[in-house]
Amino acid sequence: MTETLAHQAIEPSVLYFGTPVSLISTVDASRTTNLAPISSSWYLGRTVVLGLGRNGQTIRNLEATGECVVNLPDVRLQPAVEALAPLTGVAPVPPEKADRFRHETDKFAAAGLTPLAADLVAPPRVAECPVHLEAHVVQVHGPKSAEFAIVEADVVKVHARSDLVIEGTSHIDLERWAPLLYVFRHYFGVGDDVGRSFRAEY
Ligand SMILES: Cc1cc2nc3c(=O)[nH]c(=O)nc-3n(C[C@H](O)[C@H](O)[C@H](O)COP(=O)(O)O)c2cc1C
Repeated sequence: MTETLAHQAIEPSVLYFGTPVSLISTVDASRTTNLAPISSSWYLGRTVVLGLGRNGQTIRNLEATGECVVNLPDVRLQPAVEALAPLTGVAPVPPEKADRFRHETDKFAAAGLTPLAADLVAPPRVAECPVHLEAHVVQVHGPKSAEFAIVEADVVKVHARSDLVIEGTSHIDLERWAPLLYVFRHYFGVGDDVGRSFRAEY
């Protein structure tokens, strides 16, 4: 039995209790590539839902061209993720970001990452990321005047680095997969496996 301890009301500035980092690659109407780290993402079946600031280039590209790759970095790629963190594809940099962000046209080069062609969408995959999800935008929710947009996209192709795939299956080897998590603006790896769900397949 777990001991029940007292709770208290708090006012945290963000509610980032812990989600995986994704690198979203997109292109604009003239096929210029952009790449941005996000942590607001979740999955329902083959649907991925992304939470994106309206002042970024990523949402503009998604509304213009309707495609992306959700690239999942592992813990070893934290320095590359953090190299992308202060960059935006928007020029000029929006005033509210001007003190801490700079415009960058080649984010792959800025982070030492390598573009790799996708199969079904125009934006490139990130070769160094162990997992790539090619996706088509289905709907963008929320008014354009809002601070954030909620993007619903269909995952149409999944790529996983072969050393992470259990041979002869489509299962990811959980002993080898080391997703990068974002917890209150710190980066973490996952801890111990503390049990399997009754629906776990292996
Ligand atoms: C680890 C991490 C997680 C982030 N999560 C999000 C997020 O979920 N949604 C978002 O809009 N921005 C998020 N950001 C901030 C964007 O990366 C940042 O606004 C960036 O300038 C967007 O690039 P873009 O304007 O080229 O699209 C995150 C940044 C980092 C480093």
